[in-house]
Amino acid sequence: MAGNDAPSSGGLVGPIPTTVSLASCPALEAKSILPPVRVFRSTSVENLNSTPKDRAYWRAKSLRRLFSMREPEEDLEGSARLPIVEESIECLRRNDYGGYTIPAHNLYPFQWNWDSAIVAAGWAVFDEARAWEEFEKLFSGQWEDGMVPSIIFHRPSTSYFPGPEIWGSPAAPSESTGITQPPVASVSARFLFEHTEHAELAEEQMADLFPKLLASHRWWYKARDPEKKGIVAILHPWESGMDNSPAWDAALQFPVDNLPPYERKDLQHVNACMRPTKETYDHYLTLLYRFKAENYYDSNKLYWVSPFRMTDLCTNSILFRANRDLRWLAIKLGKTDVVAEIDEWLERGFEGFKQLWDEDAGLFKCQDQLTGKLDDAATSAAFLPLFAGVASKEQAAKLAENLKQWLDKVPFGVPSTDPRDPRFEPLRYWRGPVWIIINWMIFNGLRHYGYDDLAQRIYDDSVALTSNAGLREYFDPQTGDGAGGELFSWTAAMCLAWLDRPSAIAIGHKMSGPKIHLDQEVSPPK
Ligand code: DGY
Repeated sequence: MAGNDAPSSGGLVGPIPTTVSLASCPALEAKSILPPVRVFRSTSVENLNSTPKDRAYWRAKSLRRLFSMREPEEDLEGSARLPIVEESIECLRRNDYGGYTIPAHNLYPFQWNWDSAIVAAGWAVFDEARAWEEFEKLFSGQWEDGMVPSIIFHRPSTSYFPGPEIWGSPAAPSESTGITQPPVASVSARFLFEHTEHAELAEEQMADLFPKLLASHRWWYKARDPEKKGIVAILHPWESGMDNSPAWDAALQFPVDNLPPYERKDLQHVNACMRPTKETYDHYLTLLYRFKAENYYDSNKLYWVSPFRMTDLCTNSILFRANRDLRWLAIKLGKTDVVAEIDEWLERGFEGFKQLWDEDAGLFKCQDQLTGKLDDAATSAAFLPLFAGVASKEQAAKLAENLKQWLDKVPFGVPSTDPRDPRFEPLRYWRGPVWIIINWMIFNGLRHYGYDDLAQRIYDDSVALTSNAGLREYFDPQTGDGAGGELFSWTAAMCLAWLDRPSAIAIGHKMSGPKIHLDQEVSPPK
């Protein structure tokens, strides 16, 4: 057992994997394609394209229907998905380190920012108090300037590199990285608040959380859009969450520094062919050390000195969507004094996104802010402006057309890179595999724009992948095999909150046992 990464309990999910499966990637690739499993059908939804809508309508329309609207199965006990629902609940419990959920044992032994925000939606299905705790712990790491770090190192672990000993962050309230991650928190917080069964608890929690969410959005605009372009910059591939996306290849051509020797720990847990290369890691670390040299990640400086400054579609789409959800929360909470400020972010965002549209490709593209060039890589992030609700109806139609072409090339969608691109690698992290959280965002966006059949394909593929390969970190779009980490928290959360939501609520209420209360001390697993 590595470091403190001990299992919290026994349970349905079996032993926690402690060593990497060293099956070679070519062997995995040779596996036959899994038969698609068509377990559930969602109920029909309103066709948003049934009447002509002008641009103002698309700009103003609220984004609802965050998750599936499927009705509960009549025979829950006999449902083919019952084991996966139970396993998902057990997975979150097992990855619970006492108020925060690690993404996966050994591979990711701390609290990750966007993982936690997604995972809160999973907890909410069967333990709302615990869901709010996830936010409480995440924002306990928020910096004074409003930044929410990408990782909070609540307690030590020897199974991850680079840990707190490398980052060192004297400005932070607790040990953390000095960079951030896509700001999903307001989206998830709205979801918890809107669907709560415990209104009093939700109001109490939201009163505390709202100012922190607002501060984090303000940080994004102050630190990452000081030139008021309407779109924010990421300064490290880790900030995008899509670490080794081909969209960063061209921008990562700067020479690496003379780095202190280092040992990667990720390769002890996951096969190297599923992870970023050494050359990419050298660039990650060069950026880390350069940022650290800037007065320990001083947000006022990094934007101006970083050799990597990209407009990331994932971050910007999520931030745009989060702005809409924060606005919704502000109105609900009677904080109308901040609505004009949020509206300004949204207005500028509509303008900023226009620069990212590639008419010939019929796709949005990431942009290198240092050269002004749109990057040529077509990645799954290109579809996330649908989730934001920032695409026009015409753009949405082109995105849907593009997506259909991608899906014609692989049995399981949505691959993280266009499968026709020579850079597509079906097993390597963000260069090809399917990620269920991205599927959920694309599904949600497609339904918003009325592409219900395409949304249904993505839903069905997500069900098939998790049914056949379990709660893996990501999935091979060509074979359906699971890849990366095992018993992965946000995949479990997506089963509970999205793919199996009605069943999960019904089963979760029955089996989740005594709820954790916020005033009750929770001991981390020994
Ligand atoms: C990792 O270590 O792979 C993470 O994505 C960095 O946040």
